[in-house]
Amino acid sequence: MVRRPLCLLSSVWLTASAFAAAPALPVAPAPTSAGLGALFDGTRASRDAVAVPSLDEWLGLEKSIALQKMEANISPAGAAPGAVAASPSHHDPDYFYHWRRDAALTMQEVVTLYAQASDAGEKARYFKMLTDYASFVRKTQAASTLTGLGEPKFNMDGTPFNGPWGRPQDDAPAEEASTLIYFASVVLKDGNKALARELYGDFAGGAKGDLEYVSHHWGQTSFDVWEEVKARHFDTETAQRVSLLEGAWLASQLKDDGAPQWYRAQAAQLETEMGRHWDPEKGYIVSALDQDAGLQGKTSGLDSAVILAAIHRRPIDDQIMSAADARAFSVTDKRVLATAQALKDKFKAEYAINGRSGEPGVAIGRYPEDSYFGGNPWALLTAAFAQLDYMAGSAYLRQGSIPVEAEDLAFFRDLLPDAADKAALRAGLTLEKGGPLYGQVIDGLKSSGDSFMAEVRAHANPDGSLSEQIDKQNGMMISAKDLTWNYASVLSALQARDSFLKAPR
Ligand code: NOJ
Ligand code: NOJ
Repeated sequence: MVRRPLCLLSSVWLTASAFAAAPALPVAPAPTSAGLGALFDGTRASRDAVAVPSLDEWLGLEKSIALQKMEANISPAGAAPGAVAASPSHHDPDYFYHWRRDAALTMQEVVTLYAQASDAGEKARYFKMLTDYASFVRKTQAASTLTGLGEPKFNMDGTPFNGPWGRPQDDAPAEEASTLIYFASVVLKDGNKALARELYGDFAGGAKGDLEYVSHHWGQTSFDVWEEVKARHFDTETAQRVSLLEGAWLASQLKDDGAPQWYRAQAAQLETEMGRHWDPEKGYIVSALDQDAGLQGKTSGLDSAVILAAIHRRPIDDQIMSAADARAFSVTDKRVLATAQALKDKFKAEYAINGRSGEPGVAIGRYPEDSYFGGNPWALLTAAFAQLDYMAGSAYLRQGSIPVEAEDLAFFRDLLPDAADKAALRAGLTLEKGGPLYGQVIDGLKSSGDSFMAEVRAHANPDGSLSEQIDKQNGMMISAKDLTWNYASVLSALQARDSFLKAPR
């Protein structure tokens, strides 16, 4: 059974006015035009008194806010160690649960922070968070639930949540396995094989527990990332495929004979399934196929979950997968880029804030027919579109060439500010490093990515905190406050931005 949105309009306004009263810190962006000015009524005076940080400076400040606020939701007071609250919000909406998806994507960022930490105290703190998380995962895997390892969320003490909900959600075990495998890959590099083995686990739990579920259930329909539609989902299949390829690698490192072949064989079939979602007439990847239950009316098939699918990769993937496996449906896949462009165009036309003058970028939502809290853009999805640009930029720099095809021509043209450059770009061209238009496209990816981050900035609360959604009419933050996944998304977009900026040109 799927949860329908309650009437949340009153809470929407309550939330908006609460934030309007919050103190303005220098991290808040300045309104760039009269159009944005309305957003900051009441705070204008204090804003004008401080120097306005550049986007780079703001991103630096936002990074420390995101780190601190993300951490605050990991093992919060009153929860079992290792539980990750989706948000500290207890009502309208009640997000004080351990959602396995949100938790896995958050702890993936913690693995990166752990791997990068040079300070011993910091490293130990991240290590504790990660091992607590791994133990909490074991506890939830051992619990008796309504759908086994397809359960989407748990109470913060680790007991099953048995209320009505869209279940199973089969992206969750895959994302959880990927995070555990990524952590295992890092400790393996440090020589801690015993911990890597524990994280890999066995049929009863750990990464392998999840991989067994994934490898035996991928053919069934399940609820999507948005918990609404029971179908075969591109995003779920992507998470499943990638987790199985990563799992095959770890299984072979740890000599779990027989497992790598089995996981790889399932991953190959999933790649074929994913191909079914490409609709050449529509010119984009249709998110859901074969719906058999849940919310009706998602007629366009357009969904930002497709972009999440492409950006949800671990840094180890390129080293442990064959080049062909890593490339399939990656951030440079023409079908993914075509879908990103179709979504951007759609949301640009759909949300009032995107039509305002002075808006620094395009705010991105879940899907055009969305009605949850009225159907609005989301901070994490706007950051996800930035991450797509940054990741694509890095990939093209590595490869030294950019093929332009009929499917992704509109995506590339949109990156170029100059009309003559746009016209010069044609399907069938391959832009080579040092040749015409190559540098312009690389620059365009940087400015496009930055425009999405500037859009997040323009709608963040004055103190830099981020709620789940951006009101499409007035631009205020609404729905769950301090959404943990938001902070993880901002951090991973910034990681991708850093790598892109550091990549040799
Ligand atoms: C709660 C879910 O988390 C959200 O994704 C969904 O849109 C609403 N219920 C309405 O079904
Ligand atoms: C609703 C979102 O649709 C879903 O993706 C998320 O897991 C939960 N909220 C918790 O943040």
